[in-house]
Amino acid sequence: MPDYTLKIRRFQPESGQAAHWEDFQVDLPPERSVLDGILQAKDREDASIGIRCSCRAAICGSCGVKINGKSRLACNTRIGDAAEEAARLNGGSVVVEPMGNMPVLKDLIVDMDAVHWKKVQRVVPWLLPEGPPPEREYIVPAEAMIDITQSMACIHCGACVSACLSLEVDPDFVGPAALAKAYRFVGDPRDGATEERLRDLAEDPHGIYDCTHCFACIEVCPKDVAPMSQIMRLRRRATNDYGIKDRNNGYGHEKAFVTLIEKYGTLHEAQLLPRSFGDGSLIKGQTEPGAVKELVENLPTAIRGLRSGKVTPRKALLHPKLPDQKNVRKIFKEIESHDERIELNLYIVGEQGDAEE
Ligand code: SF4
Ligand code: SF4
Ligand code: FES
Repeated sequence: MPDYTLKIRRFQPESGQAAHWEDFQVDLPPERSVLDGILQAKDREDASIGIRCSCRAAICGSCGVKINGKSRLACNTRIGDAAEEAARLNGGSVVVEPMGNMPVLKDLIVDMDAVHWKKVQRVVPWLLPEGPPPEREYIVPAEAMIDITQSMACIHCGACVSACLSLEVDPDFVGPAALAKAYRFVGDPRDGATEERLRDLAEDPHGIYDCTHCFACIEVCPKDVAPMSQIMRLRRRATNDYGIKDRNNGYGHEKAFVTLIEKYGTLHEAQLLPRSFGDGSLIKGQTEPGAVKELVENLPTAIRGLRSGKVTPRKALLHPKLPDQKNVRKIFKEIESHDERIELNLYIVGEQGDAEE
């Protein structure tokens, strides 16, 4: 039976000791899970190792930890694969530590209530239907629910919360899991508070516009919920469907981004700021008093960009279009020619013919 070394981060508040690392030798077939390894160490060497688990089948969402620095389910990670990864990364043991962005209670157990569940409560995670309730259940056509099946697949493991880079910088950010949950209700045809929900999350400085598109949540989610995609859906609904112009300039920023890509194919960084303050328009962004005031307030950011070389005077004035820019325009035209918005829901797979269509 192969031997593996688990390097587990220990923290036992009752001991008065600071957090530290401890190594445990386990012997298991490579296809068994890291959770099996932790439970073996707990069984044979130290019963005080703290780990939450229940189903051992990637269903209950309770065994979220970081393995070799990546947030994942311990029961859904093969120990052999983790050891190969560890050999590539650090030439040694499988490193197991508690998830990030949440306070550690003990060893591998984090305080999900203090962060994850608090944020889920923030988005009003229940239906708010309009009008008098029907005599029996609310009935909706099955196809009307397809759009939210992806967000409904969440098992609340907290892996995305742990990996979110925006949360690391802004702990008040509503966060990927809670926003995916918000889309679950925004996209539900039975809900009667869609606009209020969207306005609330758009106006909140820690809401939908606080996400920086880093893809980390998509990468780690064991259920392919793709929280970032759900956040982008919330933004599209807020800007395109309800025209919500929020105080965070999220509306203008989206418009500016899309306009620039349509025009140049790549992001013209120097125009992004003025256009964002002008609801997508360069002229408005440089002439309207409110926009000019915001632009002036953001000058230090522009100066930092110049200093770091991210923006140069040459780049600012002469941003080249992509050589095949007309193909980018074609995509825009194609999308705009449809009466209904095209939703790229990667969770739903169809026949090849459907995809081509
Ligand atoms: S894409 Fe957005 S929500 Fe997801 S991890 Fe990155 S910043 Fe957080
Ligand atoms: S969205 Fe995915 S990673 Fe985040 S809590 Fe839900 S299942 Fe876990
Ligand atoms: S133990 Fe239930 S998801 Fe891992």
